Amino acid sequence: MATQTIPVEDFDLVIIGGTGDLATRKILPGLYRRLCAGQMPPNARIIAAARSDYSQTEFKDFIKKALENYVKSIKRNEKNIALFLERLIYIKLDALGDEGWKELAESLRKDVIHAFYFSVGPSLFAPLAERLMKYKITDDKTRIVVEKPFGRDLASAQVLNSVLAKCFREDQIFRIDHYLGKETVQNLMALRFANALFEPLWNSQHIDHVQITVAESLGVEGRGAYYDKSGAMRDMVQNHLMQLLCLTAMEPPSTFDAASVRDEKLKVIKALETIELNDVVRGQYRADGKADSYQDESGNPDSTTESFIALKVNISNWRWVGAPFYLRTGKKLRNRVSEIAIVFKDPPHSIFTDSPDLKGNILTIRLQPDEGINLSMTIKEPGPGGMRLTEVPLDMTFAEHLDDDDLGMPDAYERLIMDVIRGNQTLFMRGDEVEAAWGWVDRIIKQWEEKSLKPVLYDVGGNGPDDSLMLLHRDGRRWREVS
Ligand code: BG6
Repeated sequence: MATQTIPVEDFDLVIIGGTGDLATRKILPGLYRRLCAGQMPPNARIIAAARSDYSQTEFKDFIKKALENYVKSIKRNEKNIALFLERLIYIKLDALGDEGWKELAESLRKDVIHAFYFSVGPSLFAPLAERLMKYKITDDKTRIVVEKPFGRDLASAQVLNSVLAKCFREDQIFRIDHYLGKETVQNLMALRFANALFEPLWNSQHIDHVQITVAESLGVEGRGAYYDKSGAMRDMVQNHLMQLLCLTAMEPPSTFDAASVRDEKLKVIKALETIELNDVVRGQYRADGKADSYQDESGNPDSTTESFIALKVNISNWRWVGAPFYLRTGKKLRNRVSEIAIVFKDPPHSIFTDSPDLKGNILTIRLQPDEGINLSMTIKEPGPGGMRLTEVPLDMTFAEHLDDDDLGMPDAYERLIMDVIRGNQTLFMRGDEVEAAWGWVDRIIKQWEEKSLKPVLYDVGGNGPDDSLMLLHRDGRRWREVS
């Protein structure tokens, strides 16, 4: 399946934190791939700003190495790399002082889109926004992009929102959640709203429950200091899993534009019931002789931060009452799997005496790996000899059709950056949406903090703590395998 590339308007993109991990692993390699795909206008420029002392040549050498590390060899060619490096400018900038700001202001071209990607911690968002104003670097068309974590609770998110609101209109602020840039996440909206087949069944009359799993096989690696202050609830549930839940549960927006889509997502968050502690399982991985424990990896031997969480979430509205959403995410699990499974109700009655217990269909929207959509169907086992039934998958795996490196499919970050340049906020979070999500998450965290609830331990390489299995067993349900 060939992908279509529509060039964007000419731009100057400033990456603040331009020598950091995100910039070198994701943003710059992503932009290079957009250049290869022909989406970048010929004069577009990327200005990397950071504290380090780099000459222009040193910086370009540094980025050349990053491209060698983070772009697959099939996509690297000397001519395109040289073209890409020509577009790069490096500016030494002090986010908290005055160094570099005048130079940055002077380096920007007039009459092109200006986007500022704050690829730095949230404590720098306010000083950066204020300096952009002070040096009169912004104009009506300016966009700023802010990374997660957007605060660590409702109060801090409100502060960030109000600081940014002093300098920018809401339609200039792009709060990134890279899950929204994933191909299959957008396909979920196409599946639901471009096909008449599923929508009549998309409710608790026909759906028994929904499972959302984001399992990772890696641990906290070198991010222990950050992660230990967040845990799975803040790092994953408040944003990525919440977005998946919203897109699965929301009502059809009247149009596919930023305001309508985000209005509908916000309604879902507002309809989430506050969860009681017996519907929450917090876990932490333990050492097993071969692998380190979470406490070892995070460098905090007394840590009670959760590296796994499972939740039973009820949505109080007409569509979903009676069909819970079970969410789970964790590190150091058996496999890296992200999927949404819509588990339909069992057929009400079996006419097949050989198969008295018919199973409900399961629609699986697989984000990674093997992106695709799969519907389990019950059919007759082929061959003579009676009416025995068997389950087969109706498989719409698009990974093989939409291979990112061979056919130019953008990854989540590059797609989202191009949306920033286009000024399209549909796949970004609005301020009120982020605050509502924090409000819900805060109420749950408060309960476990008040009760000093410690996480239960789980083995590396499994499905998470047994208590998480119980969360479903007690409702007569079971998790899908993390495979
Ligand atoms: C990040 C989290 O936002 O998402 C990480 O901070 C997590 O802890 C990552 O590993 C998962 O993203 P992906 O795209 O690899 O599923």
